[in-house]
Amino acid sequence: MASLARSGGFAVKVISGSQPHVNFVAASPAAETVSAFREVPAEFATAETRQAAVSRSTGGVFTNGLAVKGINVTSRRLAHTDVSFPNMESYRRDSTKNTQTPARDTEDQRRALPTALYYGAGGVLSLWAGKEVVQTLVSYKAMAADQRALASIEINMNDIPEGQTKTFEWRGKPVFVKHRTKAEIAKEKAVPVADLRHPQHDDERVQKDEWSVVIGVCTHLGCVPIANAGDFGGYYCPCHGSHYDASGRIRKGPAPLNLHVPAYSFKDTTIVIGSS
Ligand code: FES
Repeated sequence: MASLARSGGFAVKVISGSQPHVNFVAASPAAETVSAFREVPAEFATAETRQAAVSRSTGGVFTNGLAVKGINVTSRRLAHTDVSFPNMESYRRDSTKNTQTPARDTEDQRRALPTALYYGAGGVLSLWAGKEVVQTLVSYKAMAADQRALASIEINMNDIPEGQTKTFEWRGKPVFVKHRTKAEIAKEKAVPVADLRHPQHDDERVQKDEWSVVIGVCTHLGCVPIANAGDFGGYYCPCHGSHYDASGRIRKGPAPLNLHVPAYSFKDTTIVIGSS
């Protein structure tokens, strides 16, 4: 059994086994100080007097017949009962001032700002990072300035007499521009499309009947055919003997497809290859 008595800024606790009438009393450690504390009998003023009182009542430590089992302890400690706790109200959020409100009820309110910052600022940063990555990739993959300059070429039609074919380089490939005669035009228009390996009418391959523009790369294995040659008066690939007509269509040999027609357009007296 233990009791605690307080006197001013001090407290003393006495534990004395199970004796119901003996335990405790308190006072400050200094007798003279305690003497002014009228409620505390003088015999309990110091640790020694308290111990003596306990021993008297119990007949000595652990010797009294009523004290079956126990510990006789005297201790002193500073209770600091006069310390006032600071008021932290002003530091609390409005949402948490009511200490009886469960935290989960104010969670949305308390986390609104961090959540907005997380998703708002995080989203903006993510978008910015994505834009940087895309820009870097696009600029890395983009055509170099000198190549862009060659993205399209202009060919003066007056430089190519009727019946002749001239070769130009466009994006690293040869391009045949043929100025066809009336006889060649009539001949190509009359070819039965059903007889062709790669069926295409001449009208599908030219914008103006007089001008045929094709990429000079054989569709078999990529050789460069010879213009105005072959059995059909168009192009001849000597690598494996493919013959193309004056419209660039495969007529004989191993090539599976007609010569490709690039994007081109007419502008005044020029043909612009690379723009449609
Ligand atoms: S590459 Fe032209 S025929 Fe083979």
